[in-house]
Amino acid sequence: MSDLRGKRALITGASSGIGAALAHQLADLGVHLVVTARRKDALDRVAEACRAKGVTVDVVVADLGKPESATEVWNAAHVVGPIDILINNAGFGYFRKFAGVDWARDAELLQLNLTSLLELSRRMVDTHVGTVERTYLVNIASIGAYQSVPNMAVYAASKAFVRNFTEALHDELRDVGSALSATCICPGGTTTEFHEQAGAGNYSWIANNSMKSAEAVAATTIKAMRKGRRNVIPGIINNLSCWGVRFVPRRLSSWLARRVLGKPRQAALPARSGNVSTGA
Ligand SMILES: NC(=O)c1ccc[n+]([C@@H]2O[C@H](COP(=O)([O-])OP(=O)(O)OC[C@H]3O[C@@H](n4cnc5c(N)ncnc54)[C@H](OP(=O)(O)O)[C@@H]3O)[C@@H](O)[C@H]2O)c1
Repeated sequence: MSDLRGKRALITGASSGIGAALAHQLADLGVHLVVTARRKDALDRVAEACRAKGVTVDVVVADLGKPESATEVWNAAHVVGPIDILINNAGFGYFRKFAGVDWARDAELLQLNLTSLLELSRRMVDTHVGTVERTYLVNIASIGAYQSVPNMAVYAASKAFVRNFTEALHDELRDVGSALSATCICPGGTTTEFHEQAGAGNYSWIANNSMKSAEAVAATTIKAMRKGRRNVIPGIINNLSCWGVRFVPRRLSSWLARRVLGKPRQAALPARSGNVSTGA
């Protein structure tokens, strides 16, 4: 596996969950960091803990749910030096029927989960294709990328986009022998703030018992990235379900997803920050 010491990584959504765990684990490997998200206090806490491990950490507060932010984040990240590793991790979903949530929330979801991710990927590719130094792009999708998911329709569709885009990009980069690799990670249920934000959590036994920690998902992500893997699903049960889904009718897999995820937990979704309204 490649040595990452001295490289510089930009991690989106590093204020909590998988992104924060990635920051800690990359800092352990001697990787300098640029961490970005909306919550400054949470980012500062992650940054302080990572600096104590001997690496430099720059904090960029930004709302990647807004169209102009990806450019701003990319430019801010480059003030100090080049980015060798980009991890597009920031994302959110909601556990509600499509008809019950207003367009502003979906517009933010699409901007964050798709467009900002795509723009940052574009800039990483433009910067590194044709260069000889080993560099890495990682996009975080979900096992929701493998099928339609009622009550998470837009989220699952956004992750299908991320998976298909990243796998295709991986193949394109390999075709030209690029030193930049593209890796897609498809986590299943992971114990983070995601579920509270999504208004989910009344999960079935199997969903609760297949939950992984953010640290475990981050460790799998870094290992897959270092090996330049195409797509990795953390966890045996998640792997089996993504493998098995190809053998069942799509309508049945959709029904099964509904059973596994259960019903929405709260009456109202938590408000999104910025100019985004709260949904139904
Ligand atoms: N947890 C799971 O079960 C699970 C399963 C499959 C895939 N995933 C994916 O894993 C990734 C990380 O999620 P997580 O589970 O670690 O959840 P999390 O703890 O809620 O982390 C989400 C991160 O995204 C950031 N974020 C949210 N909205 C943003 C915005 N508009 N602009 C900039 N940053 C924003 C959040 O920071 P701020 O709030 O500070 O902005 C936070 O750092 C997501 O892409 C998610 O879809 C999670």
